[in-house]
This record gives sequence, structure tokens and C-alpha cells, in this order.
Amino acid sequence: MLLAFDDEWDAAQRLGQAARLAPVCIARHRFPDGEIKLTLPPALPPRVVLLRSLAQPNEKLVELLLASRAARELGAAHLTLVAPYLAYMRQDMAFAPGEAVSQRIVGAFLATLFDRVITVDPHLHRIDDLRAAIPLPEAVSLSAAPAIGAFLRQRVPGALLLGPDAESAQWVEQAAAAGGFAWGVATKQRHGDRDVRIALPALALRGREVVLLDDVASTGSTLAQAARAVYEAGAARVYVAVTHGLFVDGALAALRQAGVEAIWSADTVPHPTNAITVLPLLARALAA
Ligand code: R5P
Repeated sequence: MLLAFDDEWDAAQRLGQAARLAPVCIARHRFPDGEIKLTLPPALPPRVVLLRSLAQPNEKLVELLLASRAARELGAAHLTLVAPYLAYMRQDMAFAPGEAVSQRIVGAFLATLFDRVITVDPHLHRIDDLRAAIPLPEAVSLSAAPAIGAFLRQRVPGALLLGPDAESAQWVEQAAAAGGFAWGVATKQRHGDRDVRIALPALALRGREVVLLDDVASTGSTLAQAARAVYEAGAARVYVAVTHGLFVDGALAALRQAGVEAIWSADTVPHPTNAITVLPLLARALAA
């Protein structure tokens, strides 16, 4: 059985079809004081999959707590979380004394709730194995980068792929290999939530089509700054492709203002820019 929520019902149906699982909706009720109540099917099979992408994650983490504990009481012996977007992975160290290391804390929390976690392009920077963040033997990390590379080959053959920071190299390299692109990565310094500085690598960009590629776009500041720098270096056209399009308020406008011609994302987070699907990838991982 595949459990999902109403706001991801479209993805649940498509994943259910690809993975040959019957999707069932968990009903949610919000009490006037903000608490939530979940209602699951009264009897569950031994193996259950829960789909929950974790954009805007805070309330969803409470839903996961309630849903997984209830599922166990209702008969689920093996629980898989499919979280196409896994939140809280970017705070992977204490950058200042006293800061909570969210990646470790949220990862450990998920490991208490689920037997297997499957996700796509988690932000692994200072570690290279998801199991170091989610201490489960079955913590599975998939990548949308090859599918993004194949998509770009159709849309912008001959473009150069550019990652905005060092950690994006892992995704840019894979997309470039899949699509036969030249690629490079810039360096980034972050000074605040929307204040980033980008330094370009020594690549000839004059007259070129450039696709900026990253795992996550949140405020869009990273990619907007990179787009400005790339245009200043003489690029003809700049596009954006990301796995997770969080695109908080003002992000798309910032990218358009920086001159970005088109914005594409994978469907790990439902968004009008979704152009590349990861559902077959998730279905294959579920079947493994
Ligand atoms: C962090 O390094 C990530 O890979 C992204 O570059 C970052 O989260 C993008 O955030 P924003 O869109 O707010 O600049």
C-alpha cells in the first residue's frame, strides 16, 4: 500500500501506477488551535510506503511522526518513506558555536520512524553517503541529474552546464555526462539568506548558451547572482535547471530579472516549472 496526502495526490497516483502500488489518502483534520489529526486506513498490510516530499517541512515532520507511529499500530511491519525532496540537509555542521546540526538531528529522527528512506539528490556536501545523515542500512539516495542531462540535450544541445558552487559539481558532472555537455563550477560565498557572491571559473562564456544547474533553488539568489555573472562574462542566453524547485516568494521574479530565459525543475516538489520526472526512478528503487 502507498499512503499519501491530498496535496500530493497527483504524484501519489503516478507513483502508484509506476510502482504498481494502490495509493490511499491519509485524511487530515486541523483543529482550531492548529493541532492536526490524521486518519489512516484501519488495517494496513505488513509493507507500507509513505510518500511525503518535505518542502515547507516543519508541519510535515509532525505528520510523519503521527503517520508512522499510527501505521505501526495498524499493522505495518516495514515502513518506507519516499521523500523526493529531503529537507534540513543543508545545515550539516555548526557554522557558529551553539548552532543545531539539523541534518544529523532530522536524519536521526527519520531513522526512528522508518525502516527505509528513499530520496533524490539530498544535499550531501561534507558527507558522501546518506547513511551518515540517516543512520539506516536502507537510506537510499537517487539522482535526477542524469534525467536532467538527457532533458537538456533535447532543449539546449551545445550549452555549457555550470554549477554555482563547489558542492554542485556532483550533480553537474552527472548531468553533463548524460547529455554530453562541457561543464564547470563557480565558487560561492554566502553572507546571508539572500546575499551570495559568485566567482566564475576560467571558462570562455562569450556567446555561449549556459545552463545553471543546482540541487535546490530556494530564494533563487544563488542562481540569480550566477546568471548576472555569466551574462557579464558575455553569455548569449542563460537557463536554470534544478532538481528541487522550492522557489519561495520572489524567487522566480529574481531569476527573470537576472535575465534567465527558462527555468526547469524535476518533479520532486510540485511546481509549475516541473519538466523532468523522477517517478520512474523512485518506482525502480521501490521495486529493488
Ligand atoms: C546550497 O548550497 C544549495 O545547493 C543551493 O545553492 C542553495 O540552497 C540555494 O539557495 P538560494 O536559492 O536561496 O540561493
